[in-house]
Amino acid sequence: MKSTQYSDKVLDHFRNPRNAGTLEGDDVTVGKIGNPVCGDLMEFYIKIKDDKIEDIKFKTFGCGSAIATASMITELAKGKTVDEALRITRQDVADELDGLPPIKMHCSNLAADALREAIKNYREKQKPESDEAVRVDATGRITGKEEFAERGVYTEVTDLSVFKDKRTMVIESGDRSMEIALQLTKQTPRVVFVTRKKELAAGELTEKLTASSVKILYESEVLEIKGLKTVEKVLIHDLNEDEEYELYVDSIVILKD
Ligand code: FES
Repeated sequence: MKSTQYSDKVLDHFRNPRNAGTLEGDDVTVGKIGNPVCGDLMEFYIKIKDDKIEDIKFKTFGCGSAIATASMITELAKGKTVDEALRITRQDVADELDGLPPIKMHCSNLAADALREAIKNYREKQKPESDEAVRVDATGRITGKEEFAERGVYTEVTDLSVFKDKRTMVIESGDRSMEIALQLTKQTPRVVFVTRKKELAAGELTEKLTASSVKILYESEVLEIKGLKTVEKVLIHDLNEDEEYELYVDSIVILKD
């Protein structure tokens, strides 16, 4: 039986996740992270009082192991100081769960990294405003779009097979972008559709897209494309939460206007 690969603790946290959900309020900080291996997403919400994690919740689009590790890490972190929470390692989480199948260790990274990201964002918020480099120029273009042209950035799509099994992001720019996102689901299971809108205009395409395996990130914009030789990740701005986070992708479709 497949489930025997998982410890009783993993199964328990998967079936009865602790601290699942979100937190709201001005004193809440969010940390989001994408899994470079599978492309799944994890969000951590923390409320810090007197340097201690007073409340913590998580939301994930990840697998059972991601749910179990996130659940466990919220239990480990709650009540700890920020520094103590930062010292919780991926291995600590796996150990507390009486181990994870090796193939699933990347899922435990997701929870630990999202917690760190939330703490990093919290600390950033505490700092006085800095004149951080502007990453979107006046015309709203994405930084890195030209730099990565033909190295993972596509401004037109002719041959869908180049996206085979690639984690692909499509930036919303009307019906054609939606059609491409849908067509890409035949090439790869990891398609993320990014739109600045709160919801997509009702219609057949929207219905198909929301019913498909495409992950839609609403109220989001890509600020920057990063990587060494080719596209490796993008910096996303969550317009609703006013938070930034990174998502690992192999290719990104930004159609010409
Ligand atoms: Fe994606 Fe586990 S397979 S988080």
